[in-house]
Amino acid sequence: MIDRPNVPPARAFFSSGPCAKRPGWTPDQLKTDVLGRSHRSKLGKARLKLAIDMTREVLQVPDTHLIGIVPASDTGAFEMAMWSMLGQRPVTMAAWESFGEGWVTDAVKQLKLADCTVVNAAYGELPDLTRVPQSHDVCFTWNGTTSGVRVPNGDWIRDDREGLMLCDATSAVFAQELPWAKLDVVTYSWQKVLGGEGGHGVLILGPRAVERLESYVPAWPLPKIFRLTSKGKLIASIFEGETINTPSMLAVEDYIDALTWAKSIGGLQELYARADANAAALDRWVEATPWVAHLATEPGTRSNTSVCLSLPGASPDVPKAIASLLEKEGVAFDIGGYRDAPPGLRIWCGGTVETADIVALGPWLDWAHAQVTQQAVAA
Ligand SMILES: Cc1ncc(COP(=O)(O)O)c(C=O)c1O
Repeated sequence: MIDRPNVPPARAFFSSGPCAKRPGWTPDQLKTDVLGRSHRSKLGKARLKLAIDMTREVLQVPDTHLIGIVPASDTGAFEMAMWSMLGQRPVTMAAWESFGEGWVTDAVKQLKLADCTVVNAAYGELPDLTRVPQSHDVCFTWNGTTSGVRVPNGDWIRDDREGLMLCDATSAVFAQELPWAKLDVVTYSWQKVLGGEGGHGVLILGPRAVERLESYVPAWPLPKIFRLTSKGKLIASIFEGETINTPSMLAVEDYIDALTWAKSIGGLQELYARADANAAALDRWVEATPWVAHLATEPGTRSNTSVCLSLPGASPDVPKAIASLLEKEGVAFDIGGYRDAPPGLRIWCGGTVETADIVALGPWLDWAHAQVTQQAVAA
């Protein structure tokens, strides 16, 4: 029998998206003078431009790359890139979990790309990315949020590649280093590592992506919210804060608040360090716990944000019951594995989570596991 622990995590927020708000966040700290105003007013445009400028500063995006705020969160940003750029040359889709598989569906079933190769791997594994032909356009997810498997580095991407590298980095950015010179398109949403809100995507374009946009017109129609060019030229104002359609200025203010916090704690390196420390603390508990294992088989590919855990030999009901018991106790919210992933637990370790809360969670997981499995034995 395991005693019910006395000390819960100070914050029970371990969801993999939307993720925990930054420590100390309260809504009254958000600036609100832009609310109820046009997003195209001087003030509105200035706040959108500030969000872009702070993104460049905190994320250390080089001047070679443009940063735009676009509709429909990461999905909008990534699909906008796929629909606008693919079809000019052969494409390789690399996928190893649900979100990457979603982009495969887009490429194969929706865009119906004539020359499309799929390189995939099971949950917990990474495909052999060195096999990816560099003459192809390539779509991949840097951190597979639903399997906890990440790309360890960009060594497999050649500097003299002919194709474009399109990277969905939504659960990687601000926690894992990205080799900007090797990435032609990077997308993410605010709701992940910085604990912002959903709804808006960030689209980052390198020079070769801009060149593609200005030299290639896809065969399929593009809805207005996907259109990045006008008369064969990039709509440069999108990358200065003139959004395609109306954004939520409240979400923009929340994002500026998150970036301000990130700067105040020491910026990108500190965000990396916080995620690493959280993942290391969780890993210490995993190593000491016989009933749980990392879903990611290879330690070098284990995420420091969406850490996915399996329960070898357990019924799928066990992780579900653990997650719902801890939610009921108010100790841990949203730690069940993703609906399409193998049954298990998923614990967010991005920088807005405090390491002390990860440490405090361990004994509660042990307690909940004992409760759930003892009930099963008794039943
Ligand atoms: C890797 C990845 N891609 C795409 C998405 C979809 O993001 P959004 O709902 O912000 O569009 C998510 C969300 O969890 C994700 O983790």
